[in-house]
Formats: sequence, C-alpha cells, structure tokens
Amino acid sequence: MKLFLDTANVEDIRKFNELGIVDGVTTNPSWISRDSKGRSFREIVVEICREVKGPVSAEVVATDAKGMLKEAREISGWAKNTVVKLPTTFEGLKALKILASEGIKTNMTLVFSANQALLVGKLGATFVSPFMGRLTDAGYDGVQLVRETVGIYRNYGFRTSVLAASFRSPREVTEVALAGADVATLKPEQVDLMLKNPFTEAGLKAFLDSWASMKK
Ligand code: E4P
Repeated sequence: MKLFLDTANVEDIRKFNELGIVDGVTTNPSWISRDSKGRSFREIVVEICREVKGPVSAEVVATDAKGMLKEAREISGWAKNTVVKLPTTFEGLKALKILASEGIKTNMTLVFSANQALLVGKLGATFVSPFMGRLTDAGYDGVQLVRETVGIYRNYGFRTSVLAASFRSPREVTEVALAGADVATLKPEQVDLMLKNPFTEAGLKAFLDSWASMKK
C-alpha cells in the first residue's frame, strides 16, 4: 500500500520524504490556505511537486464543469506530477470524463458512498478518495466505505486507485490495508502515531537499563 501525506506543509513533507515513505501528497483548499504563508496556490503546489516524485493532488474550486476544466488544465501544466482533484458532483463527473479522455490525472474527492465511487470508477478517474473519518464522525462505519469500493472495483476490473482519506485513528490504516486500499493519505501527526508504541518505548528503556548496569 502506498502512503501519501495529507498536507500542504512543505517542512512536514520534507521530514517524511527524507525517510523515504512518501509516495505522494494530497492537498485541499483548507490545507493550502492554512499553510499559504503569503504564497499563491500555484507556488505551493509547484514547491511540493519539486519535493516529491509521486503524484501531488491539487483541488479545483470552480463548481461548474467548464470552470473545473479551465482550472484543471492549468494545474496539470504546473508540474509533471500534479493530479487534479475534483469534487464528486454531477459537474465534477462531467469534467472527469473529458479530463480522462485528455489523459489528465484526476482524484475524485469528497466520496461518501460506494455508489459515488462506482460512478467515478466507470469514468476512469486515476484516484477515488473515500472520506472515511467524516462518516465515522457522523456515526457510520467509514472503513466499510473503503471495503465496498475496493470490492466493487475488483469485481469490474476498474483501474481507478482507491485512496483512503480522512483518517481518525492509526487502527484505520491497518483496516484499509487489509481491505486492499491502494493508498492511504495521512496527516503528518498520523504517520507519527503509526510508529509510536508504548511497548516499544518501555522495551527499549528496559534493554538500555540492563545494558547500563553491566560491567563494560
Ligand atoms: C484528502 O484528500 C482530504 O484532504 C482529507 O483526508 C480530509 O480529511 P479530514 O476529513 O480530516 O478533513
């Protein structure tokens, strides 16, 4: 399973990229605005695209297909590894169909049902982003959405990659990996949580204490 970072913070991206675990990046208008520090959308996306080799998702803000297509074609020209993120609406699907025929890479975002994911797969998106956490927050089973999407895509041979998004706990990473998601996109602090384990820390401390008590 690939790991993407779900952030527009270049320092965080650099930190994990140096470790060699960043296969790509997803941004959204909220992350871009939070980390803009006076820079334009384009400047931020280009900087991230220079930092990582893998796909970098950048989202359109138009809500009509014509406007989405204009923004998508601009974004796709900023760097070789940009992926255009589109909302999963009727207008978003119209834009997706045209962009897929032009060979522009797409990530269909804000997917909250397996039926939305099915439509996205039929139209040949590069990625589909089921938003698990927001469903979990509302009392539904967010991971089930990923399981259903993976199952449907396997049944019909859809080539769209399932990009599990909107995580709330490290356990969900294990669950989507077992479900067969192609990618998990995680906030930097969530990658830290994947590694952190009190048993590892206590075990290491015990080993070092034993070592310290021995004659060298
Ligand atoms: C992914 O592409 C989204 O930007 C992200 O996972 C949303 O996460 P949130 O629901 O925690 O805001």
